[in-house]
Order: sequence, then structure tokens, then C-alpha cells
Amino acid sequence: MSKRINFGKLIEKQLPPELVNFMWVAGEMANSRGEKVYLVGGVVRDLLMEQANFDLDLVVEGNAIELAQQLKLNQGKITTHPRFNTAKLQWNDRSVDLATARSETYEKPGALPAVTPSSIDNDLSRRDFTINAMAIRLNPGYYGKLVDPHGGRDDLQSQRIRILHEKSFTDDATRIWRALRYEQRLGFHLEKKTSSLLQRDIPMLATISADRTRYEMECICKEKYPEKVFNRAGELGVLAALHPSLKGNGGLAEKFEHARKECSPEPPSFDLYLALLAYPLTAEETEQLISRLNLPKLSAKTLRDTIAVKNKMRSLSTPGVSPGAIYNLLRDFSPAALEANSLVTESAVAGQAIHLFLNRLKDVQVLLTGDDLIQMGIAPGPRIKEMLALLHQAKLNGKIATRHDEEEIIKGWVAQKQGGTTPPS
Ligand code: CTP
Repeated sequence: MSKRINFGKLIEKQLPPELVNFMWVAGEMANSRGEKVYLVGGVVRDLLMEQANFDLDLVVEGNAIELAQQLKLNQGKITTHPRFNTAKLQWNDRSVDLATARSETYEKPGALPAVTPSSIDNDLSRRDFTINAMAIRLNPGYYGKLVDPHGGRDDLQSQRIRILHEKSFTDDATRIWRALRYEQRLGFHLEKKTSSLLQRDIPMLATISADRTRYEMECICKEKYPEKVFNRAGELGVLAALHPSLKGNGGLAEKFEHARKECSPEPPSFDLYLALLAYPLTAEETEQLISRLNLPKLSAKTLRDTIAVKNKMRSLSTPGVSPGAIYNLLRDFSPAALEANSLVTESAVAGQAIHLFLNRLKDVQVLLTGDDLIQMGIAPGPRIKEMLALLHQAKLNGKIATRHDEEEIIKGWVAQKQGGTTPPS
């Protein structure tokens, strides 16, 4: 049963005037087309919680693509997906998604659902949690009316994450990760039955494709405190379903917090968070995680590099190791893998070496080119490359700095050669 409460004022208070105006226009236009239009999902939840969220999701009992085409502002861009009856409107830095109200049926667990146009009630019934299954009507005369058939508002007040039906996690086990994400983000708790069904359905995570699982991990890593979700997933046995050797505890919070400080004002990248999470894994286990998440090349390289750098920590911890040697040890590895190792290592010397590399050494370049060397009298051939490498080492080790310094060294080598000796190697 929907409650007769008007949330028009809340919308005006919390959303920018431009979006409030957009929703009025959407309501009027839908009315003139004989359609009903609603604001739905996360933005309704966040409006009710008085939290900022400007990602508007509209559901139309009618034709979302046609309504979007009519609503398209002069300067705006529209992207449509006729197969799913959805459209996205974008203008300036605003983005609004419109979808045709739909029912979903799952042919087998974990598969993407089959979709048919339907009513707002059916559209809300296909959703994950009661707090995400509310809508606010936008048509004139009904503007601001809350549609809450599953008791989402009560659950918001009681701070409960509750699924709508027994098969929710079986149909779509990504909701297991989503449940933990909302629970930890909002500081809520899993309702009792939801909690026991979640535990029962942990094996269903195996039905979720690698790409969808990776997407869930990416969403977690965009949270303010991803470690809270991983810790909770560890407690409940959800993390073990991703990989049995992953641990949510073991100082993860401290490492993630440290990563946020190091990366500030930007948040840490997905690759860095993942490298910290996967840090305790062996090379073989890391490969299993890479394929479970079908990681793109660069992310996979970061995880592999993390292990390779771990194996170099003893050499890096040696006091007095030269900048040139540090460069040679670390030159091939991804910055996120280096950052992960610097955050985890207990060796201050190794940590400083990695930061020296990241902050300075990796950008040190020789200014002279092979052509310059030939013009200065060095014979073409493999020796050119060797000499450029020697110049690079001299520069890394602070023995030379300017182009003039480089030229002086080369001139010295040419003179030595003319005098019958060969340049140092
Ligand atoms: N949804 C769902 N089951 C999923 C994914 C999404 O029922 N596996 C529904 C929820 O109603 C959700 C809406 O689709 O509110 C939009 O999904 P998403 O953008 O992921 O959630 P939001 O709540 O909009 O955003 P966020 O999670 O970042 O707060």
C-alpha cells in the first residue's frame, strides 16, 4: 500500500533547481502523453535520508524513449537502448536515466533477466531491497506522492536492509554484495530473514559471471570505506566465495586508510585497493583471482607486479642502495603495485626507496639522443645504447644534471677513445 505523503517539498529542498524544474517538465509532458512517470530507486532512498544524490532515475508507465526524446534539451545528448526500452539524457554535468516500467523473470540463477513492459508496482517488485523499491510520482496533481508497496520507508527508519522475496539472492546473487555495500555505507543492519537467506545463498555467487563480479568489486571500491564491506564479507563467508585465501581483517582497514592519505585528494584507484586486498595471496592464488574477476590487462599486471615487487623487498631494504639500483629494480612495475608494497612494507628503507622511485627516479630522462651522440663522434652501433644507459645511471645517481653535463661526459669519453682508452662500462 502506498502512503499518502507528499515529498514535493523534500525534492525542492534537496535537489538543484535545474533538476527540480526538469522533473516538473517530465511530469507535465508525461501527462500530456497520457503516461505516468516516477522518480525511483537510490535517489528516492537518499532523498528520504536527506543525503545528496543527483543521479535521477525515472520510470515511465509508457514509452521511456519517446518521452526522453521529447524532453531532450536543446544542448543535451540522448543515448537510447531500444532493446531495454531505456534512454539516458545528458546535459552540462547532469545525467538522467529513463526506463519503461518492467517486470523481470530469471530463467536461471545468475543469468540476466528477461524483461517485459509493465506497471510501476511490478517494476518496484523486481528490485533488490525495500529501501531501493520506492518511487515518487511526478505527474501534476500527484506530484510528490510516495509509492512504497514494500515498506521501504519503515525499513529506512528502522535502518534495515530487507529483500522483497525469498528468491531474491538466488535470482541475482550480486545482491549479496549489494546488501553488504548498503549495510556498511548506511550503517544499517541486515534484517533477520534477509541475513539467513543471504548466508544460505552464498554458494549462488558462483552463478555470477566474472564481469558482473568485477563490477561489484569496482562499486565496493568506490565506497568511502571499502574495507568495511570487505571486513563484513569476511565475517559472513562471502569473501571466501570470491577466493578462500582472501581475508577481510588482518589490518586491511589500516592499509586502506593509509592508501587514502597517500592518494589524497584523489581516492585510491580500484587497482590499488585490489592489490592491497590480494596482497596475502600466492602467485597461483593471484592468477585464480585474476580469472575469477576477468581483470583487464592493466589491473592483472598490477596484481602480478605486486608479487614481483614483494620479492624485491629484501634488496630494496638494504641501506645505502643507490638510486640507479632502485631504478633498475623497479622500472618495469605498475605504480599501483609499487604503492601497495610501500603501504604494506615494514621496512622504512624500502618504503623510502619506492617513494623515491615514484616521486623522482621514474621521470629522470637523458636529454641527449642517439643522434646527438653520433654527431659528437661516437660510432653508430650498440655502444650508443650502452652510453645512453650510462648517462641515465649517472643522472639517477645525481652525478650529472644538465644537458651540458651530459655533453661533457660524452666529450670526455670521445677524448679517452681518441687517446686509446675505452669509455667506462
Ligand atoms: N537494482 C536491483 N538489483 C540489482 C541492481 C540494481 O534491484 N542487482 C535496482 C535497485 O532498485 C537500485 C536500482 O536498480 O536502486 C539502480 O541500481 P544502482 O544504480 O546500482 O543503485 P542506486 O541505488 O541507484 O545507486 P547506489 O547503489 O550507488 O546508491
